[in-house]
Amino acid sequence: PVPVWLDVDTGHDDAFAILLACHSPNVRLLGISSVFGNAPLSHTTGNTLSILSAIGRADVPVYAGATKPVCREAAAAPDIHGETGLDGTTCLPAPSSSVKTDVTAIEATYRALIAQPADTAWLICTGALTNAALLFSVYPSLVTHLKGFSVMGGAIGGGFTDAPLGTVKGQGERFGNWTPWAEFNIYIDPESAQALFRNSVLAAKTTLVPLDLTHQFLATKEVQSNLLYGSGKVQNGQSPSLVRKLFVEILTFFAKTYADVFGLVEGPPLHDPLAVVAAFAPALLDDRSGERFAIHVITDGDHGEEDHVRSGQSQCGRTIATKLTTGEAGIRILRGLQECKIW
Ligand code: BDR
Ligand code: CA
Repeated sequence: PVPVWLDVDTGHDDAFAILLACHSPNVRLLGISSVFGNAPLSHTTGNTLSILSAIGRADVPVYAGATKPVCREAAAAPDIHGETGLDGTTCLPAPSSSVKTDVTAIEATYRALIAQPADTAWLICTGALTNAALLFSVYPSLVTHLKGFSVMGGAIGGGFTDAPLGTVKGQGERFGNWTPWAEFNIYIDPESAQALFRNSVLAAKTTLVPLDLTHQFLATKEVQSNLLYGSGKVQNGQSPSLVRKLFVEILTFFAKTYADVFGLVEGPPLHDPLAVVAAFAPALLDDRSGERFAIHVITDGDHGEEDHVRSGQSQCGRTIATKLTTGEAGIRILRGLQECKIW
């Protein structure tokens, strides 16, 4: 199994990333750090602990990371995830373990990853990139030790400077989900994202899972029904387990907010688990024949009210990908989905 450290802002789709990382036989989860994002850090940390309790993995160590970006105020996404970051569930248990405080989240992440054999371990981020930027700034040598760095973030759309996609439904030049240009995880801490993507050694190990990919991975009604009743283990008519109910409630809430806010009625895109899939089953996801990119993050602009409601003019947080020449090391951007049955 691939040794993995997960950095999350738990969140409806983060909960699925945790579930996958905890129970995939292909992953050995070393620990989790939390970050502000979908809700304030106290909520994202508590949600993480509760999800781990619900799925029988309260043994996984959890550390609380950054409460805000280094040079901006914290943002949250209550219209997508509710005030708690994980609204809509009646079966979420109280945490049966506590957050660890023996060392900081950065220190714990470093120690866990550096203890793995060289070129084996992955850092996977499904929230703001603040913790990751701090980690590589305090421990730059960790970059060479890691096997991979997987990031759910960004919206490339027409932002590929020389290779427009043109195949994803609803995709255009403006493909953001927080502003017309920017995806939430990058928007809320663009300076951290820019620092990480500019690190050329790290870029060669970075896999980006942008909205271009995640909007091909929708939790449709069929997916929700499979999740509730399973295939073989729990049949229609029998009562589903509490864990199944919990995850279906999570999806139901997420589906409603995606329908209300984005008019996406087929089902919500399940962004974050795909960043875990990228670490242990990259063949399921497509990087278009080994193309590699440099990514520039636009960091100009304040996070004012006017661009806080998915309508403003600011391009802050936009990710622009430039294709590199063959053989040049750069970021792998996952853009196509092979048949991906993680359910
Ligand atoms: C990302 O933003 C968050 O709301 C989700 O958890 C996901 O990580 C999608 O843009
Ligand atoms: Ca997330």
